[in-house]
Amino acid sequence: SSSIKQDLIASIRNIPDYPKPGVMFRDITTMLGNARSFRRAIDELVHPFAGQKIDKIAGVEARGFILGGAMAHQMSSGFVPIRKKGKLPHDTVRIAYSLEYGVDEMEMHRDAIKPGEKVILVDDLIATGGTAEAATKLLQQMGAEIIAACFVIDLPELGGRKKLEALGVEVLTLVEFDGH
Ligand code: PRP
Ligand code: MG
Repeated sequence: SSSIKQDLIASIRNIPDYPKPGVMFRDITTMLGNARSFRRAIDELVHPFAGQKIDKIAGVEARGFILGGAMAHQMSSGFVPIRKKGKLPHDTVRIAYSLEYGVDEMEMHRDAIKPGEKVILVDDLIATGGTAEAATKLLQQMGAEIIAACFVIDLPELGGRKKLEALGVEVLTLVEFDGH
């Protein structure tokens, strides 16, 4: 499985100075575009939950939709989109969260999760954890039992894992990168 990790790392493209100078962007489009890498990533994400009945996969817009859709299909679970504000047509719950500059809001349909449902949260990457923390709070507000939060990429120096663990959420990640 260290070779699986090495293959996954090799499948992710590194783009220096994007979206701004000094930032190394971790681009998963190359992983998604490679049939073997995409399947491996999904296999690794679902593996810890083998034999468990998970009601819903909640994916964070936008790359969490791609991963979460594939996971939900593989696990025979439902899929719930957590979206940027203003995109969902029915009654929503909404939460503000901090970005590097300023704030944004995300929302989820109010009836997307029933109290007590077992949910896995997924996104492509956890950095500061602000995005995943907000998504966790929305899910917990609706009574979800969050079984885990899953990410392909962890940037451990930015401390996101601890933020989610402070909310009682187990964090699972596939590969780590240094720096920002
Ligand atoms: C990226 C990434 C995560 C988030 C992680 O999304 O896809 O969702 O940042 O950062 P955090 O842990 O510091 O909150 P981004 O906000 O760039 O938006 P996008 O997914 O719509 O491109
Ligand atoms: Mg994102």
